Amino acid sequence: MSEQDLFPVPREWAEKARVDAAKYEQLYGRALADPGSFWLEQAKRLDWIKRPEIAGDWSFREQDFRIQWFADGKLNVSVNCVDRHLKDKADSVAILWEPDSPDEAPRSYTYRQLHEEVCRFANVLKGAGAKKGDRVTIYLPMIPEAAFALLACARIGAIHSVVFGGFSPEALAGRITDCDSTLVVTADEGRRGGKKVPLKANVDEALRHCTSVRKVVVVKATDGTVAMNAQRDIWYHDAAADVTADCPPEPMGAEDPLFILYTSGSTGKPKGVLHSTGGYLLWASLTHELYFDYRPGQIYWCAADIGWVTGHSYIVYGPLANGATTLMYEGLPNWPTPSRIWQVADRHNVEILYTAPTALRALMKEGDDYVKSTSRKSLKLLGTVGEPINPEAWRWYHEIVGEGRCPIVDTWWQTETGAAMIAPMPGAIDLKPGSATKPMFGIEPQLVDGDGRILDGATEGNLVIARSWPGQMRTVWGDHQRFFQTYFTTYPGKYFTGDGCRRDEDGYYWITGRVDDVINVSGHRMGTAEVESALVLHPQVAEAAVVGMPHDIKGQGIYAYVTLNANCAASEELRAELKQWVRTEIGPIATPDAIQFAPGLPKTRSGKIMRRILRKIAEGEVSSLGDTSTLADPSVVDDLVANRVG
Ligand code: WTA
Repeated sequence: MSEQDLFPVPREWAEKARVDAAKYEQLYGRALADPGSFWLEQAKRLDWIKRPEIAGDWSFREQDFRIQWFADGKLNVSVNCVDRHLKDKADSVAILWEPDSPDEAPRSYTYRQLHEEVCRFANVLKGAGAKKGDRVTIYLPMIPEAAFALLACARIGAIHSVVFGGFSPEALAGRITDCDSTLVVTADEGRRGGKKVPLKANVDEALRHCTSVRKVVVVKATDGTVAMNAQRDIWYHDAAADVTADCPPEPMGAEDPLFILYTSGSTGKPKGVLHSTGGYLLWASLTHELYFDYRPGQIYWCAADIGWVTGHSYIVYGPLANGATTLMYEGLPNWPTPSRIWQVADRHNVEILYTAPTALRALMKEGDDYVKSTSRKSLKLLGTVGEPINPEAWRWYHEIVGEGRCPIVDTWWQTETGAAMIAPMPGAIDLKPGSATKPMFGIEPQLVDGDGRILDGATEGNLVIARSWPGQMRTVWGDHQRFFQTYFTTYPGKYFTGDGCRRDEDGYYWITGRVDDVINVSGHRMGTAEVESALVLHPQVAEAAVVGMPHDIKGQGIYAYVTLNANCAASEELRAELKQWVRTEIGPIATPDAIQFAPGLPKTRSGKIMRRILRKIAEGEVSSLGDTSTLADPSVVDDLVANRVG
């Protein structure tokens, strides 16, 4: 089987499809030809307090730069995700929770119970002083309270900023300070793969550097002992007992912010990506329904963490807006056994499973027996997200996990895009292993060369999106200029994704990976500049340059070149210390896989580091370094090649 193999839409999928091949073409065409009426019609899938009469109002040009969708509409996201299902789905399960340990009992919440939990949580936030427009930082493990907290913020119009539980106190403090959060919601401890994460202690540490936070709401998750500051800290269960479960939803403008989520870019400081209320929810809900072909009653599982955008859009907002049963899993796919992910699917009769290529590669390595010893009979559709899926992992997912009967829905998107943008609609698009296939309605991808010239036909180039879509981010929190600068100046008039991409003769899109200084480690974005900034904070480090390197499981690993200060000696101890240093500064996901001590870095005469050379060396392609004659000191390259790590 070659990469070019085609897996046609199975007949039964085409027959029952909401959108079949012909309808896909028709709707895709309509959305581009008549976006106003198309999107106002789509907007009817949401419950509006005031229905919008205008759809998109946007320009990507500098002189009149703006992005607005449904700006005259009013709605509340928690009403759309909870209250509106009480009519006919009050007793269906909204959230199904699988704990870290398989020996513990799962929990479930019906839409009626979810309503009560969200209202109570919202009243606790209000009691702690949160108001419409305030920023609430959420630093929680994968427990149901995380979903309640997001929806509670949405209910009162507070803007949530979720920080992944694996981030360090330093990283947490930076994200709290950047958006001036007044409130933090955390738990005593988190659990993952049998290990405890000291979340509350991390918050205490972070808050030594933050002045904006007035209250910390603490959910009891493990019953671990934590220090409570009587002036500042509130136990959630105590506060919840003192409030009612009645909390009227705040009417929000469609363009009011729903959340901020920090993500890494090519510069040092993570950006606070801001999403809107109306356009975002519409995008999350529409793509969830169409890409996963979600049908009432199905158990749907997105195995991401709520700390990433995938968790926001496809654990919470998309599925709940559609009245789905969404499974939340606290733990790791391969703990306590590499069968766990399939055991969880069996235990809950999961029909739709959405996970990342990195998890699949790790599970694949353990051998097929861990899969084959489970049933997986309930599975109907399998999705992937986060990085390009190599055809080998695709085929394993399709043949071994899905026994050939489940479409693989490879969804390409970004924190910035809100939800999926390029992916195969399962009843409409034939599959090719490794291709994200075709764009969603309203998405106009283009491939451009370095000068911005549009490339036609089968070709490869930089991926841009030529027009706005409802789920597009609206700004970088606190820095609108940076938003414009980052995404709309490289190719004026277009949104630049930062990804490279190939389009084949059938018009299929194949994402080839980042073309900027961002590396994709296990499906998580890491800015090389961020890791470099952490390294140079170490007293013995003079300079650092970080690039990606190929990694079997993670997709990309982190390769750091470090120049030490004069009189500092390289040693294995220092190497280990620097790895630990980065873990402490940013978090375990940023840990360098390789550190090479380098007496000098390859620089041009104007002092610019030539990353191209560093990437090649990290990749082990030392025979194709290209022209090094423009370097200030070409001899540094010989040393780098001679002392390559790994
Ligand atoms: C990469 C995650 C290939 C891409 C939702 C993008 C992918 C970055 C895919 C965004 C995919 C995501 N195929 N590459 N299906 N999905 N990417 O913001 O490089 O964490 O720019 O959003 O992940 O990562 P982010």
